Amino acid sequence: MKAQQLKLKLDAHSCPIIIGEGVVNDLVAMIEKALPSKKSRKIFIIADKDLTKARTQVLKALAKINGSVHEIPVKAGEGLKDIESVFPLYGKLLELKADRQSIIIALGGGTIGDVAGFIAATYMRGISWIGLPTTLLAQVDSSVGGKTGINHSLGKNLIGAFHQPSLVVCETSFLKTLSAREINSGLGEIAKYAITFDPKFFDYLSENLKDLKKLKASVVSHVIKRSLEWKCLCVKQDEYDRLGVREVLNFGHTFGHALEAITDFKKYQHGEAVVWGMRFALALSEIRGHLKSKDRTKMEQLLLKIEVPALPRTLDFKQVMSHMKKDKKAQDNLIRFVLIDRLGQSVSDHMVTDEDLVESFKLLNKVSV
Ligand SMILES: NC(=O)c1ccc[n+]([C@@H]2O[C@H](COP(=O)([O-])OP(=O)(O)OC[C@H]3O[C@@H](n4cnc5c(N)ncnc54)[C@H](O)[C@@H]3O)[C@@H](O)[C@H]2O)c1
Ligand SMILES: [Zn+2]
Repeated sequence: MKAQQLKLKLDAHSCPIIIGEGVVNDLVAMIEKALPSKKSRKIFIIADKDLTKARTQVLKALAKINGSVHEIPVKAGEGLKDIESVFPLYGKLLELKADRQSIIIALGGGTIGDVAGFIAATYMRGISWIGLPTTLLAQVDSSVGGKTGINHSLGKNLIGAFHQPSLVVCETSFLKTLSAREINSGLGEIAKYAITFDPKFFDYLSENLKDLKKLKASVVSHVIKRSLEWKCLCVKQDEYDRLGVREVLNFGHTFGHALEAITDFKKYQHGEAVVWGMRFALALSEIRGHLKSKDRTKMEQLLLKIEVPALPRTLDFKQVMSHMKKDKKAQDNLIRFVLIDRLGQSVSDHMVTDEDLVESFKLLNKVSV
């Protein structure tokens, strides 16, 4: 099957995105096109150490590059997005004499991309980097857009920089080793794009969900491309997330982040928590009078097909509310929410009251039992 291609065109840079099965084998040609250089240069792969097969394949694909290749294997996960874990990696780069012409490759899921991108943004005031995302979530969402960063004990993703990759390669065969939960986590972000932007994509997803879960090649490639087209459109209009255009990408994330935080980031994968967050936001959309009940049911139907762990039986909704208020979008005790008017049409509502939230939670629980 032919590779799918996109280009994220920004004022100062542009980022080709290549999607498909087997595309990674052409990595050298893609790098030479995206980052041309006559001189030999050093490539540093910050790789999820558990991905033995993908790592071998990437090293093989890079064998003919004009330069040297060094691999820095790391343990993926939220623990990596910590200054204590990241700092020694700068030391590794210095020891290996990485210079300003060197290129960092991120090989792994969203945590690897966030960290490798952040190191690329800050090492010697910024060097080029390339994303080779290996989770569905990273291929449909986190690898594109240039948000890089790490966590602080006071909150997630609070330390970071905007630093666009020069190339993103979504090798779909990498996804074959993902667990069902990891796939569902990616489906959460995919459903986000369909619900907020695209009724036609929503119908496609509803019809092809089974094949998507089985990672049927043509379906996966199409879904990655469609999701990234929407992401690119938002990023293009608001690269630095200052105008509010990218806000819609937070649909489902206010409640989702609270759920992740309350359960110490242990119970849910990010996209799983976002599925709950979207279901909550849909209930709130109805309570706030934006969304018709029958339209909400239609969107719920799709979300219910993405299996995610149940809400904790002891979930204290007051605690959820106080977390949501800590969210950077809360102002004057009123939380700003991305809600849905109708399929494919979102609305930003900053008048949501505590009562609305409680009512929505009741409605959500009615649906989920
Ligand atoms: N920068 C952004 O715009 C953005 C957007 C959304 C999410 N994120 C971040 O992304 C992170 C979550 O991403 P994630 O779920 O990909 O995290 P991750 O990197 O922790 O990967 C999840 C798990 O999947 C494993 N894995 C990765 N690829 C695999 C493969 N091909 N086969 C089998 N196992 C594989 C990893 O080892 C890990 O255990 C969060 O930290 C979140 O904040 C960033
Ligand atoms: Zn997300």
